[in-house]
Amino acid sequence: MTNTAKTSANDMWGGRFAEGPDAIMTAINASIGFDQRLYAQDIAGSRAHAAMLAAQGILTDNDAKAIGEGLLTVLSEIEAGGFDFRTDREDIHMNVEARLTEIIGEPGKRLHTARSRNDQVAVDFRLWVRDQCDAAIAGLEALMRAFLAQAEAGADWVMPGFTHLQTAQPVTWGHHMMAYVEMFARDRSRFQDARRRMNECPLGAAALAGTSFPIDRHMTAAALGFDRPTANSLDSVSDRDFALEFLAASSICAMHLSRFAEELVIWSSAQFRFVRLSDKWTTGSSIMPQKKNPDAAELLRAKLGRILGATVALFTVMKGLALTYSKDMQEDKEQTFDAADTLMLGLAAMTGMVSDMTANRAALKSAAASGFSTATDLADWLVRRLGLPFREAHHVTGTLVAMAEKAAIDLPDLTLAQMQSVHGGITAEVFEVLGVENSVASRQSYGGTSPVRVAEQIARWKAALA
Ligand code: ARG
Repeated sequence: MTNTAKTSANDMWGGRFAEGPDAIMTAINASIGFDQRLYAQDIAGSRAHAAMLAAQGILTDNDAKAIGEGLLTVLSEIEAGGFDFRTDREDIHMNVEARLTEIIGEPGKRLHTARSRNDQVAVDFRLWVRDQCDAAIAGLEALMRAFLAQAEAGADWVMPGFTHLQTAQPVTWGHHMMAYVEMFARDRSRFQDARRRMNECPLGAAALAGTSFPIDRHMTAAALGFDRPTANSLDSVSDRDFALEFLAASSICAMHLSRFAEELVIWSSAQFRFVRLSDKWTTGSSIMPQKKNPDAAELLRAKLGRILGATVALFTVMKGLALTYSKDMQEDKEQTFDAADTLMLGLAAMTGMVSDMTANRAALKSAAASGFSTATDLADWLVRRLGLPFREAHHVTGTLVAMAEKAAIDLPDLTLAQMQSVHGGITAEVFEVLGVENSVASRQSYGGTSPVRVAEQIARWKAALA
C-alpha cells in the first residue's frame, strides 16, 4: 500500500525537500493527534521564550509583543474548540507556530530563534508531567482524608486482622484504615520528590548543544516556575527520566489502590459483610435481582495493568537510546497521558468509594472473635503469668486450639478444667485475655493496633493534613 498522491514539502523545514511525505509516513510520523494535549504548556513555553528573547535584545519589543499576543489568540482559538490541528504540521509545536505566523505574519517566523523542537518538547512534557504530579498529590490528599474519616468513625471497632487471608489476630478498624493512610502518604511523598527533581527547565538547550545567541535561561526557567535551568544541554533534550519517575510512582500508587480494591471486593461479599458499598459505586445485574456488584473496586484492582504497562513501555523506548534526541522519544507521550488519566480517575473513584462505604461494626466484631483469633494472647499470657518459654506456650496453646476446634467451639468457650488438662498452671484469669476487646487494647506497642495508639496516629495525620 503506497501513496502516490503528491503532497507539498513542509513549510517549517521543507527547504531541502522537493516533495512531501507519503501519507503513511505522515500517519506514523505525526504526533499532533495526541500531543495537542500539550497546547497550554507549548504556548506558555513560547511566551516565556519570546519575552526572554526581547529582554536580551535578540527580538525587538514590537515583535515580542506581537508574538505574545498572537500566542494568546492561538490559545483562545484552541480553547474555543475550533482549532484546525493539521497533521501536515506534524506536532503541537509546529501547529502553534504556523498558526501564529498566519495570524501575525513575519514576527511569527522569528519565534524559533535560539530554540529547537527538541528543547520545546522537553519543556512542554516536563510542565505537563509536573502538573500531573500536583494532581496526584491533591488526589492522594483527598483519599487520605477519606481513610482518615473512616478511621475516626470506627477507631476502636474490632475486626479480624489477616495474614494469608486467614484470621491472625484481632485488630481495630481504625488501625486498618490508617494503614492505607501510611501507604498513600508514601505515594504522595514519591510524587513530591519526583516533582522536586524534575523542576529544572530544559528550554534553551536548543537542538542539543545550546545556542550562540545570548539567551537568559534563568529568566525562562523562572517564568515557567522552574527552580533553575538544567545544567547540560545534551542531557536536557535526551532524558525522560522525569516521566519514568512519575510512572513508577503512579504504578506503586495504583498497586496500593488495587490492594484496597481487592479488600473491598472481599469485604462487600455476602460471606464477609464487613462493609456496604453505596449504590453510587456499585452496579446491578441484568439477570440476578439481588446483586450489587463492586464494579468500581474490581476496575481499580485491574487498572494497575495499564499504568505499569505504560511504565514498562517507556522504559523500553528509552533503553539503549544513544544521546541525544531520537524520534523514538515521541513514543513517551500517549501512554503517559493514559497512565495519568487512569491514575487520577482511580484516585477519585477510590476516594468516593471510601467516603461512601459503611462499615458493619457487628459483622466485624463477630468475625474478629472467630478463627481462634486470640490464640496469641493466650500464649502471651502463659509466658507472662506462668513464665513459660514462648515456644512451650505456643505448643500448649496449639493443643488448646485443636481441642476447641474438635469440639467446634471458640477458645473462650473451653472450660477451665479443659484448659488445666493441658497445662495445670492455667487459672481463670486467662479468660480476661481471650476477649477481642482486651486483645486489641493490650497491643500498645508503638504502631500497634490498640485504640490509644490508633487515636494518636489519627491525631497526627489530622494535624498534618489540616
Ligand atoms: N513531536 C516530537 C516529539 O514528540 C517533537 C520533537 C521533534 N524533534 C525533531 N527533531 N524531530 O518528540
